[in-house]
Amino acid sequence: MPRTLVTAALPYANGPVHIGHLAGAYIPSDIYVRFLRANGEDVKFICGSDEHGVPITLRARKEGITPQEVVDKYHTIIKESFAAFGISFDIYHRTSEKIHHETAAAFFSTLYDKKIFTEEESEQYYDEEAKMFLADRYIVGTCPNCGNTNAYGDQCEKCGKSLSPSELINPHSQLSGKPPVLKKTKHWYLPLDTMQKDWLDTWIRSHEGDWKNNVFGQCKSWLDQGLQPRAVTRDLDWGVPVPLAEATGKVLYVWFDAPIGYISATKALFANTNDPNGWEKYWKDKDTRLLHFIGKDNIVFHCIIFPAMLKAHGEFILPENVPANEFLNLEGDKISTSRNWAVWLHEYLEEFPGKQDVLRYTLTATAPETKDNDFTWKDFQARNNSELVAILGNFVNRTLVLTQKYYNGKVPAHHELKDDDKACIQAMKSIPEKISENILNFRFRDALFELMNLARIGNKYLAENEPWKIQSTNPERVETVLYISLEITAYLAQLMEPFLPFTSATLLKMLDLEPKKWKDFLGKQILRPGHQLREPALLFEKIEDAVIDVQLQKLEKSKAMNQLSNATVTPSKPSTSFDDFQKMDLRVGTIVSAERVPKTDKLLKLTIDTGIDTRTVVSGIAADYSPENIIGQQVTILVNLEPRKIKGIESQGMILMAENAAGELAFVAPVKNMDNGGTIR
Ligand code: 2FM
Ligand code: ZN
Repeated sequence: MPRTLVTAALPYANGPVHIGHLAGAYIPSDIYVRFLRANGEDVKFICGSDEHGVPITLRARKEGITPQEVVDKYHTIIKESFAAFGISFDIYHRTSEKIHHETAAAFFSTLYDKKIFTEEESEQYYDEEAKMFLADRYIVGTCPNCGNTNAYGDQCEKCGKSLSPSELINPHSQLSGKPPVLKKTKHWYLPLDTMQKDWLDTWIRSHEGDWKNNVFGQCKSWLDQGLQPRAVTRDLDWGVPVPLAEATGKVLYVWFDAPIGYISATKALFANTNDPNGWEKYWKDKDTRLLHFIGKDNIVFHCIIFPAMLKAHGEFILPENVPANEFLNLEGDKISTSRNWAVWLHEYLEEFPGKQDVLRYTLTATAPETKDNDFTWKDFQARNNSELVAILGNFVNRTLVLTQKYYNGKVPAHHELKDDDKACIQAMKSIPEKISENILNFRFRDALFELMNLARIGNKYLAENEPWKIQSTNPERVETVLYISLEITAYLAQLMEPFLPFTSATLLKMLDLEPKKWKDFLGKQILRPGHQLREPALLFEKIEDAVIDVQLQKLEKSKAMNQLSNATVTPSKPSTSFDDFQKMDLRVGTIVSAERVPKTDKLLKLTIDTGIDTRTVVSGIAADYSPENIIGQQVTILVNLEPRKIKGIESQGMILMAENAAGELAFVAPVKNMDNGGTIR
């Protein structure tokens, strides 16, 4: 029997997962695996959290917690989201587990002992203040390719170019913000240049036409540029320690250890069974098909670097295919965690309880299989209302409700078949093969379209035969029509399982059927006359505009917040002398009374105890503060400003306010209560 090992990219446990993740790697792989299982094949589905690397330590700094706390938190959130969406991993592991550290370290040692690596001492960027080498994302600067001023030391997220820290213009540390210095350090390199000449080039090029065009195209461009040696170690303290005495304080590069995570997860899957070595056949037996499902940013690692590692090790098979998807955008814009431009799975689950299949459906129907694609909430609504409700749900519901009404839910027997009955049965029988062929070629959108065609065929058949109109005149004919419609419904229930597992389970229950292996029903009759069905219920419900508007408003809010934080900061004024600065007499004062200045929107008349005296100041803060809320508020007051008349009131000084890009004002006051009249210097 064919044996398949399917891996889905290990997401970084540095944040929750969003629709881009689902559409890119996890839904396609889940459909594929569920399909193989339904066909009785031997398949294992492997995933887990990628818990090392700079994305994790940077997140820890941002949240003020330890890297371990970061991965513990997000591993749980991610694992639960996947489970809730029915992503049916055989194991969801983590790279911080002991078995992974051991496996990754042993893998490195094997390559080291085989003298695969080249060793090199070179000068690398170092932050003297943080006392750290600045690997990967710890360093930012201007991208030499597109001018993005926020490019990382390993990649520019704007233009996608893969970078090394030395290529960045104006590099500076993420930690101290300062320009780095150069310092010597030693690292171990995978000699991809010689590997390219020896075998890698030929091996990758042999997959032309067989790997997806987007995948092969990216690989080819890497090969055409000529591969360079890649460092597989880093000067960091979070990761798998390099297992060499001379390498204290160094860890394996996260992209060296993460794909080994697929191997350690497979080991863990078998670890506590009576076949602990069972994992080996999935990784070492030439008859196993190894498939990596990923997003396009991971292509080079899965098509070039990981195969290079596996081959160098010597005991492992290489991937047969790497069906990577392109990116999913959201409402025309790139999904971004930092800009909160995403549909987060844990939020969707709360806001659309029980509607996991609607998102699975939409993301499959609009999957970025060959090019970047766009998710829009309007499309999500239309897919639900015009396809799931109007086509699939409508057909199933009409069939089940009529069966209930006419036969108390008992499957009728059919009578003589007319040509259009036979044509309908024929069409129904041709669909599973089309679904299979598309799935096996990683065309999940087309496969889903074929599934929906079956419901379309059913709807057309019902519409043409109108059983509800002829029940009193031709009950025999109605029995035949409903029998055929019920067969289509039963086929749909079985065939939809890889795509819509929750709906499949619900429908099978209504039909009182068990999930079947495809070979056990294809070309056969599923329902026997006399079989008793259960009460029908609606499979899908309409999604109203108001629900979609809430989501669109949420995104608008993200956009507004981003515009605010991106708004340009007013440039600095020309420099001033210290003497000029010294001329300003700034003091701590307290507002003792406040009232609106009549006929103005913005002005308040404040009475301020300056410690020196009590005086009147007119201030334009009424849009931000009500008079009654600021009595007792300490402020900074410029006491030697020449008095000015404002709206007929003499203002004897000025209080200092901070202002943000939105024009909101806030008092500038000492952080603890100070005596009035205290100087500010
Ligand atoms: O891009 C990412 O999110 C990586 N954490 C994927 C790793 S895939 C594998 F190699 F582990
Ligand atoms: Zn760039």
